[in-house]
Amino acid sequence: MADSSGTDAVILVGGLGTRLRPLTLSAPKPMLPTAGQPFLAHLLARIAEAGITHVILGTSFKAEVFEEHFGDGSELGLEIEYVTETKPLGTGGGIRNVMPKLRADNVMVFNGDVLGGTDLGAILDTHESTNADVTLHLVRVGDPRAFGCVPTDDDGRVTAFLEKTQDPPTDQINAGCYVFRREVIEKIPSGRPVSVEREVFPALLTEGARIYAHVDSSYWRDMGTPDDFIQGSADLVRGIAPSPALPGQRGESLVHPGAGIAPGALLIGGTVVGRGAEVGAGARLDGAILFDGAKVEAGARVVRSIVGFGARVGPRALVRDAVIGDGANVGARCELIQGARVWPGVDIPDGGIRFSTDV
Ligand code: GTP
Repeated sequence: MADSSGTDAVILVGGLGTRLRPLTLSAPKPMLPTAGQPFLAHLLARIAEAGITHVILGTSFKAEVFEEHFGDGSELGLEIEYVTETKPLGTGGGIRNVMPKLRADNVMVFNGDVLGGTDLGAILDTHESTNADVTLHLVRVGDPRAFGCVPTDDDGRVTAFLEKTQDPPTDQINAGCYVFRREVIEKIPSGRPVSVEREVFPALLTEGARIYAHVDSSYWRDMGTPDDFIQGSADLVRGIAPSPALPGQRGESLVHPGAGIAPGALLIGGTVVGRGAEVGAGARLDGAILFDGAKVEAGARVVRSIVGFGARVGPRALVRDAVIGDGANVGARCELIQGARVWPGVDIPDGGIRFSTDV
C-alpha cells in the first residue's frame, strides 16, 4: 500500500468557470453549492478519507473566497494552504506555482471541478508499483467522443494524448487527477501560462518519461457545464455519486433546514432547496437546484435548472434546462427553456417570455 500520509494534494481552483456563467460571476465554480455544500467540500472529504492531510489550493479568480470558507482546514482534519496566481497560469502553470509549498515526494493533483468516486489510494498504489514519473487517472466512459482520450499499452503505460475525435480508438479519458513525482513538477516552465493537458503531458511523453495510467470505471463527472452540474448535484442527492461529506442524507430531494415548502409542492429528481429558499403550493421541482434565498412561487415548474441566490420564479412559470442568475426575477407564466440563461438581477415581467400562445 502506498503511504498516503506522505503525499501532498494540490487542487486547481483558479479557473474562471465561463461555461457556468452567470453563476460564476459571483462565486468561483468550486464554491457553488452542490447538494448543500460548496462543491469543493465533497472533494476535500474524499482527500481526507484517503488519508492525505496536506492540501494546497491553487487559486486565482475570486481567490479570497476559498480561505474565508475553509480556513486552515483543521475542521476537516486537513492542513490547507493557499497559493494565488495574480494572473491565471493555466492548469500546468498552477501546479508549478505551488512548488515552494510542496513537502512530499508524491503530489496528487486534482481539477477542482470533478465529481468522482474512484479510490484515491488505488491510484497511489498504481503510481508506486509502476515506479512512474506521472500517473494519470483515466476513466472509461460510454461516449468518449466529447473528450480527448488517452490510449495505453498492455502494461498500462500511456502511449499518446489524443484530441477529441468522432472515432476514438479507446474509451479511456483523462479524469483530471494525476500523481506526479515532485521532481517532474520542477521541470514545468514557471512564470507563464502552461496547460498540463496540452503542453506538459505531450512534452513528457516525447522525452520518454514514464507516464502510467490507473484505469477504472468509477463514478466520474466534470461539473463544468450547467447540464453536468445539475446532473452531478442530483446524483449526489440520490446517492448515485458517492461523497463522504454527505453521510446518510440521500433521497429524491435535499431540503435545507429553514427552507419553506408549502403543502402540495412536489420535490423529485434529486432537487436541492437551499437555506431560506421558499417553494409555493403546488410547485413542481424536478432535478432543480435552488440556491440560498431563492423563491419558486405557487404552481411554477422548475425542471433540470438552477435558480441562483435570491432569485425568484413567479407563479405558474416554467423553467426547464435553464439557469436563473442571482437576484433575477422570472415573472408569472413565463416560459424559459433549453439553455436559457438569465443574467443576475434581470427582471422579466409577468408573461414576458413565452413559447406557447395560450394566455
Ligand atoms: P471554463 O472557463 O468553463 O472552461 O472553466 P475553468 O476556467 O474552470 O476551466 P477548466 O474547466 O478547464 O478547468 C479545470 C480545473 O482547473 C478547474 O478546477 C479550474 O478551476 C482549474 N483551472 C483552470 N485554469 C486555471 C488556472 O489558470 N489556474 C489555476 N490555479 N487553476 C485553473
